[in-house]
Amino acid sequence: MSDATAFPQHIIARKRDGRALTRGEIAAFVKGATEGTWADYQLAALLMAIFLRGMDTAETTALTEAMMRSGVVADLSHVSGVKVDKHSTGGVGDKVSLPLAAMVAACGVPVPMISGRGLGHTGGTLDKLESIPGFRVGLSLAEYAAQVERVGCALIGQTKDLAPADKKLYALRDVTATVECLPLICASIMSKKMAEGIDALVLDVKFGGGAFMKTLAEARALAEAMCAIGHAMKRPTRALLTRMDQPLGRAVGNAVEVAESIACLRGEAGPGADDLMEVTCALGAEMLLLAGVAKDEKTSREKLAATIADGSALEKFREIIVAQGGDPRVCDDPDGVLPRAKFTIEARAPRAGFVREVDAMAVALGALRLGAGRIRAEDTVDHAVGFSGLVKVGERVELGGVLGVVHANDEAKLDEARAWLEDAVAIDDPAPAAQPLIVERIG
Ligand code: URA
Repeated sequence: MSDATAFPQHIIARKRDGRALTRGEIAAFVKGATEGTWADYQLAALLMAIFLRGMDTAETTALTEAMMRSGVVADLSHVSGVKVDKHSTGGVGDKVSLPLAAMVAACGVPVPMISGRGLGHTGGTLDKLESIPGFRVGLSLAEYAAQVERVGCALIGQTKDLAPADKKLYALRDVTATVECLPLICASIMSKKMAEGIDALVLDVKFGGGAFMKTLAEARALAEAMCAIGHAMKRPTRALLTRMDQPLGRAVGNAVEVAESIACLRGEAGPGADDLMEVTCALGAEMLLLAGVAKDEKTSREKLAATIADGSALEKFREIIVAQGGDPRVCDDPDGVLPRAKFTIEARAPRAGFVREVDAMAVALGALRLGAGRIRAEDTVDHAVGFSGLVKVGERVELGGVLGVVHANDEAKLDEARAWLEDAVAIDDPAPAAQPLIVERIG
């Protein structure tokens, strides 16, 4: 019996006994998931065996390739230039994709970006973009490829033809306690990214209280594994390990995050968005280097800064919005165009001092309770709600000073969210020591 035709139970038994699976066995498993020829209990049994026994780099690469080829692989070969995307493992207030895609595309690097919706406590790029009236994230792969060629960037959602094996396996992992497994996470993320038709990839692997990876060591292991797969698949991949203990920027929600992103593109975001721009520029610099349009990091950063100073990044964002059916006036008048919540209230400091902590997870859960994300898959997102004007760690506040603004559409939730936000902020003396945001570079 060849590898590929071995019975599911033989493949499961080999992994159960700690053996490395062959490419053929891995291909049979992925085919079984895609075509429904393996029963769910057999898929789940192998997922659990992988969870317990692990996979080496060769196996994980084979799994990634098989999952990538389980559906359509976008063909962007007609687009000139090195196509580079960015993927974040998810954070709070993480709106980096919006300014980043526009800034990098404005530097002449094609950015094909297929993003996700909110996952767990984290927000999703698609939900944020859909707060722009008319913005269509559901382009076909043909429309996506044409837009990357014409505009230099497309920001779309997962299509059903892209890595369908991941959809099946992720749903099973979700209900069989096999999500937190390094090779399965790597193959899931990288198969979808590689199916986008990219030439290179930059990863923002977050760690801390507001991230899925709680420790630097976990984030490093994930980043190293993903970079190894990118390398094995001949798609240069680099990762930055970035701290995610407080929200990025001052806004958490959907419309409020789009407004903050536009302020960044207009060069008007102010000091509260320094961390957001630091991560955006660091990732952007890696993208320009991978694309070969800058000779070193300094030049990369200068090119990116110029796109803000000369307005070309904002114009690129406007072009993307127009191409995807959104209302471009949002670039000039975000407050007038984006949905606004019916009620706002300010959270206030119970004492004077320095902000020691803004608990990213607590802020995220507060935004979720306001309706900014989904608690169940079928929930609809309220684009208008969330938090804006959040204080940042290290800032000085006076007694009764504003810690942030709650945006709610349900008056009954206003006070609860205000109290929640006040609890999420810890104020202390003296000022806390500043912590580096970008801790390591891998790849
Ligand atoms: N995101 C994904 O797409 N897949 C995982 O397995 C985990 C996070």
